[in-house]
Amino acid sequence: MDWTHLASAILLGMLIVATWLASIAQANERTQKSQEDAAFIERLIGQMTLEEKADQLTQLSVLTIPTGPIEDANDPKKIGTSKAGSLLGAYGAENTRRLQHEAVQGSRLHIPQLFSFDVIHGFRTIFPVPLAEASAWDPYLSQRTARAAAVEATASGLHWTFAPMVDIARDSRWGRVIEGAGEDPFLGAALAASRVRGFRGEGPPDTSSILSTAKHFVAYGAAEGGLDYNISDLSERTLEEVYLTPFRAAVEAGVDTIMPGFNEVDSMPMHANRKLLKQKLRDEWDFQGVVVSDWAGIRELIPHGVASVPREAARLALNATVDIDMVSGDYNAELPALVRSGQLSQDAIDGAVRRVLQAKQRLGLFDDPYRYSDPTREKTQLLQPPTRALAREAAQKSIVLLKNDDALLPLSKNLRKLVVVGALANDGVSSLGSWSADGRASESITVLEGIKRAVSPMTEVVYVPAASPGSTDISGIEEVQRAVVDADVIVAALGETADMSGEARSRTSLGLPGAQDALVAQLIKTGKPVVVVLMNGRPLAIPTVDEHVPAILEAWFLGTEMGHAVADVLFGDVNPSGKLPITFPRTVGQVPIYLARKNTGRPPSGTNAYASSYIDSKWTALYPFGHGLSYTTFTYGTPRLSKQRLAFDETLTVQVDVQNSGQRAGEETVQLYLRQDVASITRPVRMLRGFSKVRLAPGESTTVSFLLDQDDWALLNHDLLRFVESGIFTVFIGGTSATDNQAKFEVITSAQLTGPGSAIPRTLRD
Ligand code: BGC
Repeated sequence: MDWTHLASAILLGMLIVATWLASIAQANERTQKSQEDAAFIERLIGQMTLEEKADQLTQLSVLTIPTGPIEDANDPKKIGTSKAGSLLGAYGAENTRRLQHEAVQGSRLHIPQLFSFDVIHGFRTIFPVPLAEASAWDPYLSQRTARAAAVEATASGLHWTFAPMVDIARDSRWGRVIEGAGEDPFLGAALAASRVRGFRGEGPPDTSSILSTAKHFVAYGAAEGGLDYNISDLSERTLEEVYLTPFRAAVEAGVDTIMPGFNEVDSMPMHANRKLLKQKLRDEWDFQGVVVSDWAGIRELIPHGVASVPREAARLALNATVDIDMVSGDYNAELPALVRSGQLSQDAIDGAVRRVLQAKQRLGLFDDPYRYSDPTREKTQLLQPPTRALAREAAQKSIVLLKNDDALLPLSKNLRKLVVVGALANDGVSSLGSWSADGRASESITVLEGIKRAVSPMTEVVYVPAASPGSTDISGIEEVQRAVVDADVIVAALGETADMSGEARSRTSLGLPGAQDALVAQLIKTGKPVVVVLMNGRPLAIPTVDEHVPAILEAWFLGTEMGHAVADVLFGDVNPSGKLPITFPRTVGQVPIYLARKNTGRPPSGTNAYASSYIDSKWTALYPFGHGLSYTTFTYGTPRLSKQRLAFDETLTVQVDVQNSGQRAGEETVQLYLRQDVASITRPVRMLRGFSKVRLAPGESTTVSFLLDQDDWALLNHDLLRFVESGIFTVFIGGTSATDNQAKFEVITSAQLTGPGSAIPRTLRD
């Protein structure tokens, strides 16, 4: 070795040692900081009276308490805000600064407030409703929109959002289908993790990091009869395999808080469900964060029939480790007496207080209570052009082309006359969808506006509202006939107004409400080419539209940029790529209907009358899970497997060639489904276990690879133990769950697996 080499080796060695020492110093600093932080919280808890502790565990809503400048100490406004550790619905940099001042100055120990709100799909710039955005099957997109929502919300003083809602929903009568990612736990887990990561961003101390909440724990979406707030009666297996999965993914991704549902599971209301909140969530999954009740969920233990008075409700909830009481006021009123009388332990209340104070500490609020309330920042962060551009991109990607006979779409921008029909086409409020935070209709682009902006100057656009979802008045329909006489195309916006889905918006039918069926009949009678743009917050049962209308776009509620995005797709500037995250039935009588059903002993067949089918309707979906067309076509090769036979702990690579066999560039979501043909228990006919998006130019091909392993073939056996059971598996790959493109392989060994495995899909794990 010459001297130069030796010198560089020594230098390199010194560098390695220096880096190592620096990392040790950093680790020591971190440990010291966390010890100091912990000591600070313990000191604070030590100084707090029981009443002050109860205040910290109380959340009040500015919707129900008066706010404004405090005039004197007896002012009810003062009582309102200083008796709470967090406030719901207070935002605005100035407003939160003022409220924070009240909290810090108005309380003996100067503890800052947390400002919380439902920032569900955007704050001021509104993104597609979650069910729509799930149609993009694009976890990274969902992460980006959650990030953008966090940037806006935190600039407006908010610390905490009650999102993501990760409830699986398989019954579209339930109005809250709109708030989640649809019917499937695998897709749901992917989007849950992405949205949690998006809300968090770089994490504290960055002031654009917002606390997230996975809700509503758990099986709230399994409400009997699709009736909101109703009981969920389901097996432990279904709970584990379906409803808990996205929550587990959210916890793995670092969600800060969890909100219990209004429902009961196994005769125990979730707000008192110690088995699921304490044993499952905290002990088994090691969730360290805050559990916040849903709106008055603690007081509702009385009508549920497990408590007779507020004191008992408060005791049950705190014992189940519900840390914060949202708005019922029962913690505030009852906890001190419960501890004094020995009905609740000091440890139980201290544990809850500690978790709340730790959340405040993580955000840096003890160092600077006003760090999120910066009016200058607020002025520069809301509704910015890049955020609007992201909203338009997300909206474009959320649109699903359900049907396109004879390539009616895309339309030419040079049509002579285009008639736009339907009240929804000009409804800016509905474009935003439910839970639109600080979104404003005046800042949203309606479908009508989007169309007008997109067409060439030679196109005459005529608008006839004709019929509205909210009224049975058919008097406007006649006008359609007159308006369309010389029209080239009709674009009809049909569906639901925004207030027909969401909380407490269950429906018993899934058809087009109001006078819209009559409008559809009239549209068909005109004999003109009709394009239906659906605006809705749940799957609709629209067999007549499907039968008679050549082109149907599922546009959901797409937010601020709705009209632009719909026009981008209608006129072909964007090739639609969305896929349904939830099954569309033919009739409401089919619900619950979902892909991962069981085969039954009498699977539907054309020959056996005594099979599992209906006598008055086809048993199949109108549009299956994963369905979505494009202006181009994609052709799939047969799946190729790296092995035909493998041991339980080996990995399998599945590859498929996909070609854009049409004339336009396009994006395809390649979907992989799996079935174990025979096992010790019955298995779903198909389970989603992978998806991948590819963008291909006309004629271009690519090979898509999926890696599968024991997490994919694992099952819970009859004793709910996690096993891989040897046997034959079928893998299906295509652009829809209805694909027949398949291959088989065999897992030749069995084994019991330890631990639950990760709920986050492999490609998204850290
Ligand atoms: C809803 C929650 C929401 C809360 C606060 C409740 O009615 O169920 O999802 O976070 O209100 O607005």
